Amino acid sequence: MKIRKAVIPAAGLGTRVLPASKAMPKEMLSIVDKPAIQYIVEEAAKSGIEDILIITSRGKTTVEDHFDRSPELEQRLLASGKTDIYNQIVDITKLANITYTRQHETKGLGHAILCAKSFVGDEPFAVLYGDDVILGEKPVCGQLCEAYDRYGLGVVGIKEVTMEQIQKYSSMKVEPLADRQYKITDMIEKPKPDQVFSLFSILGRCILPARIFEILENTPYGYGGELQLTDAMKTLAREEGMIGVDFEGRRYDMGSKLGILEAIVEVGLGHPETGEAFRAYLREIAKTL
Ligand code: UTP
Repeated sequence: MKIRKAVIPAAGLGTRVLPASKAMPKEMLSIVDKPAIQYIVEEAAKSGIEDILIITSRGKTTVEDHFDRSPELEQRLLASGKTDIYNQIVDITKLANITYTRQHETKGLGHAILCAKSFVGDEPFAVLYGDDVILGEKPVCGQLCEAYDRYGLGVVGIKEVTMEQIQKYSSMKVEPLADRQYKITDMIEKPKPDQVFSLFSILGRCILPARIFEILENTPYGYGGELQLTDAMKTLAREEGMIGVDFEGRRYDMGSKLGILEAIVEVGLGHPETGEAFRAYLREIAKTL
């Protein structure tokens, strides 16, 4: 079954990047000239997703404005002959069919996903975490859709992380299946060192069957008093297995200060307008390090 729908949870409080995220959603923090969430919507669109639901919360209306038309600005750009940027501005609104719903209380990623229940209906769907930008030649969401096509099971994007990082993320119990593909039979959120299954952790993307809603409804609140999506996926992995795809692409955690800096440096170096001058600037700076 083709994956047509995606959910982008973007309702978190972003406490790790305060004060930047006090009045500006972290999902709207800019990487050179585009907000993080635009890269994510572009990835979904390139992966064949048609309908996107963005989960927002209080203070996040700039997300909706970004994907909306902007008649006054468009007129001004046209009148001054800036057709290039005019086209870019209008194209943002054509990326996908985007709708929004609010998570009234930030009760965790699992709770945010539950807010998508009526949007999703009974089809499998993609989840792209609103603060995880992943760049590469082949969109990661598309890589996961291919694995779903092949195995017909829920899929998570995974990467190996360090022992220190895994304790802040999740750990997967894996069995190799094919190149970069693993069967996942168990998982744990924020493991203690003696609970770590492997250094493979879920990073930012998954494909879930609609069954996940029923599982979420029966999952108790977990780590940090939040409804954890990983706890529901653990049930899915134990009952029917999931697939892990060690995806190709560079992931930037826009929910962390270092992740934001890495994203800006790497995108800035590859950007046609800034690349050359920025490279020269960095070379000078590097001499002083
Ligand atoms: P995070 O755990 O990174 O987001 O969730 P957070 O809670 O904003 O982070 P900190 O720890 O306070 O800095 C991953 C994604 O899930 C969304 C976030 O917006 C982020 O895109 N999320 C998280 C929700 O939509 N609702 C929630 O209740 C929690």
